[in-house]
Amino acid sequence: MRESTLVIIKPDAVKKQRIGAILSLYEAHGLVLEEAYICVPERALIEKHYEAHKDKDFYPSLVRFMTSDRVFVMKLSGENAVEVVREINGATDPAKARVCTIRYLYGDSVQFNAVHGSSSPEEAEAELALWFGKDQDEEE
Ligand code: PPS
Repeated sequence: MRESTLVIIKPDAVKKQRIGAILSLYEAHGLVLEEAYICVPERALIEKHYEAHKDKDFYPSLVRFMTSDRVFVMKLSGENAVEVVREINGATDPAKARVCTIRYLYGDSVQFNAVHGSSSPEEAEAELALWFGKDQDEEE
């Protein structure tokens, strides 16, 4: 099934100049870049994005990190794009990620783990609306 998903290259990987290397891995797996932009996210956007984790101990630190510097936001499409991206990204903890996954290659910790990918088609739809929806376009 052809579908779209949201990927965010996080501040740690943008700072390390890994945007091109990471995008080429997705493209090598047949995913197509439909839309993209670079920004320092507003706090309100990140709080909404990580709303499901707002009661976790790490939430304040995660929000601080994700609003600290530039991120690269992408809409990627392809066959089973959500699952394919998650496979390419690897486990949340880079220490547990399979060899050659993005987090294995470029991640340093559960916080500094290079990329975010939507975890289900439903989440992808909601996250794409949040990051590429009408309100976001109007702000650009
Ligand atoms: S959980 O608790 O299993 O639901 O969380 P998980 O799915 O593993 O991770 C959700 C996102 O939170 C980030 N994360 C952390 N940030 C900072 N510190 C700690 N300890 C931490 N643990 C998890 C993790 O990078 C996930 O971000 P995304 O952007 O969703 O990959």
